[in-house]
Amino acid sequence: MPADFDTIVNLSKRRGIVFPSSDIYGGLRSAYDYGPLGVNLLRNVKAQWWRSMVQMRSDIVGLDSAILQHRKVWQASGHESVFTDPMVECSDCNSRLRLDKLEDLDQCSVCGKTGTLGEAREFNLMMRTHLGPIETDENIVYLRPETAQGIFINYENIRRTQRLKLPFGVAQVGKTFRNEITPGQFVFRTREFEQMEMEFFCRPETADEWFQYWIKARHNWYLDLGITPENLQIRTHAEDELSHYSAGTVDVEYQFPWGWDELEGIANRTDFDLKQHSEHSGEDLRYFDPEVNERFFPYVIEPAAGATRTAFAFLIDAYDTEEVNGEERVVLRLDKRLAPYQIAVLPLSKKDDLVEGTQQVADILRPTYQLEVDITQAIGKRYRRQDEIGTPYCVTYDFDSLEDQSVTVRDRDTMLQDRVSIDRLTAYFAERFALIA
Ligand code: GAP
Repeated sequence: MPADFDTIVNLSKRRGIVFPSSDIYGGLRSAYDYGPLGVNLLRNVKAQWWRSMVQMRSDIVGLDSAILQHRKVWQASGHESVFTDPMVECSDCNSRLRLDKLEDLDQCSVCGKTGTLGEAREFNLMMRTHLGPIETDENIVYLRPETAQGIFINYENIRRTQRLKLPFGVAQVGKTFRNEITPGQFVFRTREFEQMEMEFFCRPETADEWFQYWIKARHNWYLDLGITPENLQIRTHAEDELSHYSAGTVDVEYQFPWGWDELEGIANRTDFDLKQHSEHSGEDLRYFDPEVNERFFPYVIEPAAGATRTAFAFLIDAYDTEEVNGEERVVLRLDKRLAPYQIAVLPLSKKDDLVEGTQQVADILRPTYQLEVDITQAIGKRYRRQDEIGTPYCVTYDFDSLEDQSVTVRDRDTMLQDRVSIDRLTAYFAERFALIA
């Protein structure tokens, strides 16, 4: 059975996946903390993105730029003037709402009153702070509202030092901040989140082709990591939805419990950003092609995904329940590459020699796999817990293990068990995890 929203939120809190930020002070609702399991899941999502976008590509390199950038970056990019959402305020309950998300433009979606919404005004989403001890207009800086600009302002540094020729891409994963008018739906829309973005620079006449290429590649990435195909769709933006820099955008959308919503945008940003930064900085960011003795601004195709939002979608999609021996079993069918723990190592009971054997087995596997050793409760309960957090394999060290130097390996999905000799365990898992590496 697919998960409903509250079930996933409860599971996240109960199992240490995601906690509200500043929980002991009532929470912020704008930011979330990733607990011991959530941090592994999020890291695995980012690692898989990096693997497919950087490690496996000869034409894409990585970057980690600063969150704080010169104010002029955001003036050149257009964010200071147009990175806004239309906001209305309800005179009855004082809620501030995004006009474009209202179902009825005359009704407050919080208190339900009609005729109470004031004039719409454009609200800039960038978070502002000041560099240094004095707060003046001269030292305003913004926390980056997208990782992309860090790539554009380093375009020439990267192209020159890496001796890159078109087409090539630059990828970046990192924190992003937006003062969203209405954060919500748990980690779906927050004011602090993480993005995974890649800017692919190409000759203008090849941009359409690369646009199609990246739509397909990114769609396949989600499917390859196990998202249910029926829960994924590609939606083309209407003309009036396009961002100020875009000549065409599609969204990869996921069917969340509240309906279809965006996981990733893939945009043809044309030469907008490089041109703007050339103009504002005075640096010539055109590309020189010696073969045809030509200088021009490359076009850019940008797949821009949210890491935190994507991790959330994987969690929702993986949630499943089934009946086993008259009891409900909850199982997170996460891909092996994404599961917070890949293996759990469990002694059958708390007896000292079993615990000692368990630790020895764990020591063999720990350098290669994220694992948990769990010695609490009855074994059945521990299996259920590992199912619920998506651990693909449980290794149990029992009384026979003391004699035969073998352990039982239980598969999360099939619940089938194999007896494997400890000295074969590394090869056993290498085979199972290598299949999907
Ligand atoms: N550089 C282009 C760009 O930033 P975007 O569509 O605004 O495009 C890309 O953002 C992705 O970042 C979105 O598809 C979404 O997954 C994620 N994202 C955007 N705003 C978010 C928010 N407030 N909370 C969580 N994720 C967000």
